[in-house]
Amino acid sequence: MFEWPELPLGLPVFLTERGEFPMDVRVADPISRSRIEAPLPTLLAHVPDHESDIEKILVSGEEIQATVRRLGEEITRDYQGQDLLLVGVLKGAFVMMADLSRHIRLPLEFDFMAVSSYGAATKTSGVVRILKDLDHEIEGRNVLLVEDIVDSGLTLNYLLKNLRTRRPASLEVCALMEKQGMAQVPVSIKYRGFEIPPEFVVGYGLDFNERYRNLPYIATLKPEAYEGILG
Ligand code: IMP
Repeated sequence: MFEWPELPLGLPVFLTERGEFPMDVRVADPISRSRIEAPLPTLLAHVPDHESDIEKILVSGEEIQATVRRLGEEITRDYQGQDLLLVGVLKGAFVMMADLSRHIRLPLEFDFMAVSSYGAATKTSGVVRILKDLDHEIEGRNVLLVEDIVDSGLTLNYLLKNLRTRRPASLEVCALMEKQGMAQVPVSIKYRGFEIPPEFVVGYGLDFNERYRNLPYIATLKPEAYEGILG
């Protein structure tokens, strides 16, 4: 007999005739079972409340995952036999950092910096404020700065200058996305994911007014989604 159990995200899943999960599903434990939903279509309805705000999906969850895996493999190859400290730029990079680190098959340490460059706007102000500094010294360490998106490059430029003064053994950047033609300052990105058009995007850690970070894809918002928030 078939049953239609509800998974945590509300999507039903077929059981086999014997009432078991299909092979690839059974390996998941009950808590992580929701992960099997990731390969399903576009996950546009991942957060139903946000669905009406989405204009278009620029990068699908599947494309992101494939790229993050590729970046993780490159980093694994390049840092063989060396210590590596991943520094995530909060808040946006927390999703990328979690996924990327699980594709780096090396001993890792983690630290985070929180900076603010946009506030509740969709254009960079050029003024970078450090809201949270690193917890540890980085002198003599191999540091890989993990950024979600590079737009004008001002944030990254500021962070790199700041971190260089602390004398790390090496300092490189891994950025999931770069906006085409927007650089105001040159920044050297060693591990690069996607180039995207110069539009404001949300999802996969990126927010507008602190929302949409938990979307598994990168999307633009309809103009109505900004109404009442941008003056
Ligand atoms: P930049 O200093 O102009 O390169 O901006 C970098 C920072 O601004 C990123 O770390 C993001 O936090 C934020 N940012 C840039 N573009 C976007 C976007 O399209 N959506 C959301 N946040 C963005």
